[in-house]
Amino acid sequence: MAKIGVHNRLTAEHAGEKSGIYPLIAAKVRRESAAAFDDDVLWPAQWWGLDRSRVFMKAAPEVQEAALAACARGLLNEAYFIEKSGLAYSAKMVLLAPSTDVAQLYALIGADEARHLAWIEPFVSADDKTRPRGPFLAFLSSLIEACKPELLVYLVQVILEGWGIDHYRRLADGCSHPGLAAIFRNILKDEAMHHRSGILQHDAKILRGKNRAAVAVALETYADMVRVGPQSALAAVDAVCGGLAEEELADVMTALGHETETPRKLALLKELMLQPGTEAVVEKIDFTPLSVPEAVAFYQGHSAANGPADSLSSAPNP
Ligand SMILES: [Fe+2]
Ligand SMILES: [Fe+2]
Repeated sequence: MAKIGVHNRLTAEHAGEKSGIYPLIAAKVRRESAAAFDDDVLWPAQWWGLDRSRVFMKAAPEVQEAALAACARGLLNEAYFIEKSGLAYSAKMVLLAPSTDVAQLYALIGADEARHLAWIEPFVSADDKTRPRGPFLAFLSSLIEACKPELLVYLVQVILEGWGIDHYRRLADGCSHPGLAAIFRNILKDEAMHHRSGILQHDAKILRGKNRAAVAVALETYADMVRVGPQSALAAVDAVCGGLAEEELADVMTALGHETETPRKLALLKELMLQPGTEAVVEKIDFTPLSVPEAVAFYQGHSAANGPADSLSSAPNP
Protein backbone atom coordinates (compact mmCIF):
# COMPACT_ATOMS: atom_id res chain seq x y z
CA MET A 1 0.00 0.00 0.00
CA ALA A 2 1.28 3.48 -0.86
CA LYS A 3 2.43 5.65 2.03
CA ILE A 4 0.16 8.66 2.35
CA GLY A 5 0.89 11.40 4.87
CA VAL A 6 -2.26 13.31 5.79
CA HIS A 7 -2.22 16.56 7.68
CA ASN A 8 -5.71 17.77 8.63
CA ARG A 9 -5.23 21.54 8.66
CA LEU A 10 -8.00 22.62 11.00
CA THR A 11 -6.59 26.15 11.15
CA ALA A 12 -6.39 26.56 7.35
CA GLU A 13 -7.70 29.93 6.18
CA HIS A 14 -11.29 29.92 4.84
CA ALA A 15 -12.28 33.12 3.02
CA GLY A 16 -15.77 31.95 1.94
CA GLU A 17 -17.52 34.66 -0.09
CA LYS A 18 -14.32 36.72 -0.19
CA SER A 19 -12.42 33.98 -2.03
CA GLY A 20 -11.79 34.39 -5.79
CA ILE A 21 -12.94 30.81 -6.37
CA TYR A 22 -16.14 31.27 -4.35
CA PRO A 23 -18.40 31.67 -7.44
CA LEU A 24 -17.29 28.23 -8.62
CA ILE A 25 -18.02 26.68 -5.23
CA ALA A 26 -21.36 28.53 -4.93
CA ALA A 27 -22.40 27.26 -8.36
CA LYS A 28 -22.03 23.68 -7.08
CA VAL A 29 -23.61 24.29 -3.68
CA ARG A 30 -27.20 25.22 -3.02
CA ARG A 31 -26.94 27.78 -0.25
CA GLU A 32 -29.43 28.21 2.54
CA SER A 33 -29.77 31.81 3.62
CA ALA A 34 -27.81 32.92 6.67
CA ALA A 35 -29.23 36.42 6.38
CA ALA A 36 -30.41 38.19 9.50
CA PHE A 37 -29.52 35.44 11.90
CA ASP A 38 -27.41 37.73 14.10
CA ASP A 39 -30.27 38.77 16.34
CA ASP A 40 -31.93 35.40 16.46
CA VAL A 41 -31.65 32.90 19.23
CA LEU A 42 -30.68 29.82 17.23
CA TRP A 43 -31.64 27.31 19.97
CA PRO A 44 -33.98 28.59 22.69
CA ALA A 45 -33.46 28.20 26.46
CA GLN A 46 -36.09 25.41 26.53
CA TRP A 47 -34.09 23.35 24.05
CA TRP A 48 -30.98 23.59 26.20
CA GLY A 49 -32.98 23.00 29.38
CA LEU A 50 -31.74 26.32 30.73
CA ASP A 51 -35.30 27.41 31.55
CA ARG A 52 -34.97 24.88 34.41
CA SER A 53 -31.85 26.60 35.76
CA ARG A 54 -32.20 28.98 38.70
CA VAL A 55 -28.93 30.68 37.75
CA PHE A 56 -29.97 31.25 34.14
CA MET A 57 -33.52 32.37 34.93
CA LYS A 58 -32.43 35.03 37.41
CA ALA A 59 -29.90 36.53 34.94
CA ALA A 60 -30.79 39.73 33.06
CA PRO A 61 -32.38 39.20 29.61
CA GLU A 62 -29.25 40.41 27.81
CA VAL A 63 -27.10 37.96 29.83
CA GLN A 64 -29.49 35.13 28.98
CA GLU A 65 -29.30 36.04 25.31
CA ALA A 66 -25.50 36.21 25.42
CA ALA A 67 -25.35 32.79 27.16
CA LEU A 68 -27.59 31.22 24.50
CA ALA A 69 -25.47 32.79 21.75
CA ALA A 70 -22.29 31.43 23.36
CA CYS A 71 -23.82 27.93 23.61
CA ALA A 72 -24.89 28.09 19.95
CA ARG A 73 -21.44 29.27 18.92
CA GLY A 74 -19.97 26.15 20.53
CA LEU A 75 -22.32 23.89 18.55
CA LEU A 76 -21.61 25.64 15.26
CA ASN A 77 -17.85 25.64 15.87
CA GLU A 78 -17.94 21.89 16.46
CA ALA A 79 -20.09 21.22 13.37
CA TYR A 80 -17.90 23.45 11.19
CA PHE A 81 -14.67 21.65 12.13
CA ILE A 82 -16.20 18.19 11.86
CA GLU A 83 -17.23 18.99 8.27
CA LYS A 84 -13.82 20.54 7.59
CA SER A 85 -12.18 17.35 8.89
CA GLY A 86 -14.45 15.38 6.53
CA LEU A 87 -12.49 16.83 3.61
CA ALA A 88 -9.16 15.41 4.86
CA TYR A 89 -10.87 12.15 5.77
CA SER A 90 -12.37 11.65 2.32
CA ALA A 91 -9.15 12.66 0.55
CA LYS A 92 -7.18 10.04 2.51
CA MET A 93 -9.80 7.36 1.89
CA VAL A 94 -9.84 8.07 -1.88
CA LEU A 95 -6.05 7.79 -2.14
CA LEU A 96 -5.89 4.55 -0.13
CA ALA A 97 -9.00 2.94 -1.65
CA PRO A 98 -8.49 -0.73 -2.54
CA SER A 99 -10.78 -0.50 -5.59
CA THR A 100 -12.25 2.04 -8.00
CA ASP A 101 -15.67 1.51 -6.43
CA VAL A 102 -14.39 2.48 -3.00
CA ALA A 103 -12.50 5.48 -4.43
CA GLN A 104 -15.75 6.61 -6.10
CA LEU A 105 -17.64 6.25 -2.82
CA TYR A 106 -15.18 8.45 -0.91
CA ALA A 107 -14.99 11.08 -3.65
CA LEU A 108 -18.79 11.37 -3.42
CA ILE A 109 -18.70 11.50 0.39
CA GLY A 110 -16.01 14.21 0.13
CA ALA A 111 -18.30 16.25 -2.14
CA ASP A 112 -21.06 15.93 0.49
CA GLU A 113 -18.69 17.14 3.23
CA ALA A 114 -17.61 20.13 1.07
CA ARG A 115 -21.28 21.03 0.63
CA HIS A 116 -22.01 20.68 4.35
CA LEU A 117 -19.06 22.94 5.11
CA ALA A 118 -20.30 25.56 2.63
CA TRP A 119 -23.77 25.46 4.21
CA ILE A 120 -22.51 25.94 7.76
CA GLU A 121 -19.72 28.41 7.02
CA PRO A 122 -21.92 31.56 6.84
CA PHE A 123 -23.12 30.88 10.40
CA VAL A 124 -19.57 30.81 11.78
CA SER A 125 -17.67 33.99 12.58
CA ALA A 126 -14.43 34.72 10.70
CA ASP A 127 -12.50 34.28 13.96
CA ASP A 128 -13.97 30.88 14.69
CA LYS A 129 -13.04 29.42 11.29
CA THR A 130 -9.44 28.95 12.34
CA ARG A 131 -10.08 28.20 16.03
CA PRO A 132 -11.18 24.66 16.74
CA ARG A 133 -12.31 24.38 20.36
CA GLY A 134 -11.86 21.55 22.80
CA PRO A 135 -10.02 18.24 22.72
CA PHE A 136 -12.53 16.28 20.61
CA LEU A 137 -11.67 18.03 17.33
CA ALA A 138 -7.94 17.56 17.90
CA PHE A 139 -8.51 13.90 18.77
CA LEU A 140 -10.61 13.31 15.64
CA SER A 141 -7.89 14.96 13.59
CA SER A 142 -5.22 12.72 15.09
CA LEU A 143 -7.28 9.63 14.22
CA ILE A 144 -7.76 10.79 10.61
CA GLU A 145 -4.04 11.43 10.27
CA ALA A 146 -2.75 8.28 11.96
CA CYS A 147 -5.22 5.40 11.50
CA LYS A 148 -5.38 2.87 8.71
CA PRO A 149 -8.48 3.09 6.45
CA GLU A 150 -10.04 -0.11 7.84
CA LEU A 151 -9.92 1.35 11.37
CA LEU A 152 -11.26 4.70 10.19
CA VAL A 153 -14.26 2.99 8.63
CA TYR A 154 -15.19 1.74 12.11
CA LEU A 155 -14.06 4.70 14.24
CA VAL A 156 -15.31 7.52 12.01
CA GLN A 157 -17.98 6.21 9.66
CA VAL A 158 -19.67 3.61 11.81
CA ILE A 159 -19.38 5.35 15.18
CA LEU A 160 -19.07 9.11 14.60
CA GLU A 161 -21.27 9.38 11.52
CA GLY A 162 -23.84 7.21 13.33
CA TRP A 163 -23.59 9.58 16.27
CA GLY A 164 -23.97 12.50 13.85
CA ILE A 165 -27.37 11.24 12.68
CA ASP A 166 -28.78 11.61 16.21
CA HIS A 167 -26.88 14.86 16.86
CA TYR A 168 -27.91 16.65 13.65
CA ARG A 169 -31.52 15.47 14.04
CA ARG A 170 -31.71 17.12 17.47
CA LEU A 171 -30.05 20.28 16.14
CA ALA A 172 -32.56 20.42 13.27
CA ASP A 173 -35.61 19.72 15.45
CA GLY A 174 -34.72 22.40 18.01
CA CYS A 175 -33.34 25.16 15.78
CA SER A 176 -35.39 28.37 15.62
CA HIS A 177 -33.78 29.54 12.37
CA PRO A 178 -35.67 27.87 9.48
CA GLY A 179 -32.70 28.11 7.09
CA LEU A 180 -30.27 26.53 9.55
CA ALA A 181 -32.80 23.85 10.55
CA ALA A 182 -33.15 22.94 6.85
CA ILE A 183 -29.36 22.75 6.54
CA PHE A 184 -29.12 20.28 9.43
CA ARG A 185 -31.95 18.21 7.94
CA ASN A 186 -30.11 18.01 4.62
CA ILE A 187 -26.82 17.15 6.29
CA LEU A 188 -28.57 14.43 8.27
CA LYS A 189 -29.70 12.64 5.09
CA ASP A 190 -26.12 12.52 3.79
CA GLU A 191 -24.64 11.43 7.12
CA ALA A 192 -27.07 8.50 7.17
CA MET A 193 -25.61 7.32 3.85
CA HIS A 194 -22.04 7.82 5.11
CA HIS A 195 -22.83 5.75 8.21
CA ARG A 196 -24.51 3.02 6.14
CA SER A 197 -21.48 2.78 3.85
CA GLY A 198 -19.33 2.33 6.97
CA ILE A 199 -21.54 -0.53 8.21
CA LEU A 200 -21.30 -2.20 4.77
CA GLN A 201 -17.52 -1.98 4.74
CA HIS A 202 -16.86 -2.82 8.39
CA ASP A 203 -14.54 -5.81 8.66
CA ALA A 204 -15.07 -8.06 11.70
CA LYS A 205 -11.35 -8.95 11.68
CA ILE A 206 -9.98 -5.43 12.23
CA LEU A 207 -9.54 -5.83 15.97
CA ARG A 208 -7.15 -8.74 15.68
CA GLY A 209 -3.47 -8.17 16.45
CA LYS A 210 -1.92 -4.73 16.81
CA ASN A 211 -5.07 -2.78 15.97
CA ARG A 212 -6.80 -3.90 19.12
CA ALA A 213 -4.95 -1.65 21.58
CA ALA A 214 -5.24 1.44 19.34
CA VAL A 215 -8.98 0.93 18.87
CA ALA A 216 -9.51 0.29 22.60
CA VAL A 217 -7.84 3.63 23.41
CA ALA A 218 -9.99 5.46 20.82
CA LEU A 219 -13.22 3.90 22.13
CA GLU A 220 -12.32 4.73 25.70
CA THR A 221 -11.55 8.34 24.71
CA TYR A 222 -14.92 8.67 22.93
CA ALA A 223 -16.77 7.28 25.97
CA ASP A 224 -14.86 9.50 28.40
CA MET A 225 -15.77 12.61 26.39
CA VAL A 226 -19.45 11.74 26.72
CA ARG A 227 -19.31 10.58 30.37
CA VAL A 228 -18.38 14.10 31.53
CA GLY A 229 -21.62 15.63 30.19
CA PRO A 230 -22.25 18.90 28.28
CA GLN A 231 -19.01 20.59 29.36
CA SER A 232 -18.89 23.03 26.47
CA ALA A 233 -22.38 24.43 27.16
CA LEU A 234 -21.54 24.62 30.88
CA ALA A 235 -18.37 26.57 30.03
CA ALA A 236 -20.32 28.95 27.79
CA VAL A 237 -22.88 29.75 30.50
CA ASP A 238 -20.15 30.07 33.14
CA ALA A 239 -18.13 32.48 30.99
CA VAL A 240 -21.12 34.71 30.21
CA CYS A 241 -22.50 34.69 33.76
CA GLY A 242 -19.10 35.72 35.07
CA GLY A 243 -17.72 32.81 37.05
CA LEU A 244 -20.25 30.60 38.78
CA ALA A 245 -19.88 29.02 42.22
CA GLU A 246 -19.81 25.23 42.55
CA GLU A 247 -23.50 24.86 43.43
CA GLU A 248 -24.46 27.18 40.58
CA LEU A 249 -22.41 25.08 38.14
CA ALA A 250 -24.25 22.01 39.46
CA ASP A 251 -27.59 23.79 38.90
CA VAL A 252 -26.65 24.54 35.28
CA MET A 253 -25.23 21.04 34.63
CA THR A 254 -28.45 19.49 35.95
CA ALA A 255 -30.62 21.88 33.90
CA LEU A 256 -28.63 20.96 30.76
CA GLY A 257 -30.01 17.45 31.24
CA HIS A 258 -26.81 15.65 32.25
CA GLU A 259 -28.63 13.09 34.39
CA THR A 260 -31.02 12.00 31.64
CA GLU A 261 -29.30 12.89 28.40
CA THR A 262 -25.77 11.68 29.11
CA PRO A 263 -26.91 8.10 29.90
CA ARG A 264 -28.99 8.11 26.69
CA LYS A 265 -25.97 9.26 24.67
CA LEU A 266 -23.72 6.66 26.28
CA ALA A 267 -26.22 3.90 25.41
CA LEU A 268 -26.28 5.14 21.80
CA LEU A 269 -22.48 5.24 21.70
CA LYS A 270 -22.24 1.67 23.01
CA GLU A 271 -24.78 0.47 20.45
CA LEU A 272 -22.76 2.09 17.63
CA MET A 273 -19.51 0.62 18.95
CA LEU A 274 -20.97 -2.90 19.15
CA GLN A 275 -20.32 -4.25 15.67
CA PRO A 276 -19.27 -7.73 14.58
CA GLY A 277 -15.82 -8.53 16.04
CA THR A 278 -15.73 -5.57 18.46
CA GLU A 279 -17.72 -7.03 21.36
CA ALA A 280 -14.76 -8.06 23.57
CA VAL A 281 -13.16 -4.60 23.37
CA VAL A 282 -16.45 -2.71 23.91
CA GLU A 283 -17.28 -4.82 26.98
CA LYS A 284 -14.23 -3.35 28.76
CA ILE A 285 -15.25 0.29 28.18
CA ASP A 286 -16.77 2.23 31.07
CA PHE A 287 -20.08 3.80 29.99
CA THR A 288 -21.02 5.13 33.43
CA PRO A 289 -21.81 8.87 33.42
CA LEU A 290 -20.06 11.04 36.00
CA SER A 291 -22.38 12.23 38.77
CA VAL A 292 -23.27 15.95 38.65
CA PRO A 293 -20.70 16.84 41.38
CA GLU A 294 -18.03 14.80 39.54
CA ALA A 295 -18.88 16.48 36.22
CA VAL A 296 -18.62 19.90 37.89
CA ALA A 297 -15.29 18.97 39.52
CA PHE A 298 -14.06 17.79 36.09
CA TYR A 299 -15.06 21.14 34.59
CA GLN A 300 -13.39 23.11 37.36
CA GLY A 301 -10.18 21.08 37.06
CA HIS A 302 -9.99 21.47 33.30
CA SER A 303 -11.07 25.10 33.05
CA ALA A 304 -8.42 26.04 35.61
CA ALA A 305 -5.71 24.07 33.81
CA ASN A 306 -6.47 24.52 30.10
CA GLY A 307 -9.47 26.76 29.52
CA PRO A 308 -12.94 25.29 28.99
CA ALA A 309 -13.15 21.53 28.67
CA ASP A 310 -15.19 20.03 25.88
CA SER A 311 -17.15 16.88 25.36
CA LEU A 312 -17.88 14.84 22.25
CA SER A 313 -20.93 16.95 21.76
CA SER A 314 -21.91 19.96 23.76
CA ALA A 315 -25.61 19.69 23.00
CA PRO A 316 -28.02 18.39 25.59
CA ASN A 317 -31.56 17.35 24.73
CA PRO A 318 -34.66 19.33 25.51
FE1 LIG B 1 -20.85 16.02 6.89
FE1 LIG C 1 -20.16 12.54 6.85
